[in-house]
Amino acid sequence: MFRMMPKTRSLAIAPVIAVAFAMFAGAMVDLWAAWGAERVPGLTGTDRPDDVVQARQLVMDGIDAEMMPIDLAGAGKEYQLDELTAHADRISTMLTAFPHLFPPQTKPAAAADGSPSPTTATPAIWEKFDDFYGQAQAAAMIAFDASRAGTLDQFKEQGKKLRGACDGCHAQYMHVEPPHP
Ligand code: HEC
Repeated sequence: MFRMMPKTRSLAIAPVIAVAFAMFAGAMVDLWAAWGAERVPGLTGTDRPDDVVQARQLVMDGIDAEMMPIDLAGAGKEYQLDELTAHADRISTMLTAFPHLFPPQTKPAAAADGSPSPTTATPAIWEKFDDFYGQAQAAAMIAFDASRAGTLDQFKEQGKKLRGACDGCHAQYMHVEPPHP
């Protein structure tokens, strides 16, 4: 009888151990799932959010440089048509890639140390993402049409529309810094 005791006791606690183990295993699965969501190779939004913000700003800077001669042509400066259409073609390519650089981890938010967010994108992008995406696609299409213009006049018409698309999107989806005094 006495020798039975430990065995009886161990039988009694077996379900407790089983439940505890199941809970532990469950917690491990949850942890693993959370960790897995953090570290999926290729999901750069999760492990390199600041690099993603920098990449989209560089894409925009590239677009801006290509846009300058298009704006100047609109203001009357003389250019060859094929030079202008080449600028528009590159803008179209970059605008097609641009809206894919907005994973939710790159929303504007102050860093833990209080330093300001590196992005000037507004939170509205993630509230109305389909609209933002549609505006990027529409602008890319205007740039593409400009790249196929047959005459300078046709090109300038598209160039004006393209400038309108830049400014329209920025008004909604980018914080414009007030000019420094
Ligand atoms: C669909 C929306 C959209 C369109 C179209 C668009 N932009 Fe932008 N642009 C943005 C957003 C959003 C940012 C802010 C990016 C950030 O800071 O994360 C930005 C940033 C910029 C910047 C600042 C980049 C930097 O270094 O911080 C410039 C310059 C710029 N855009 C020029 C242009 C020009 C020129 C066009 C038109 C040919 C254009 N954009 C079209 C949304 C747009």
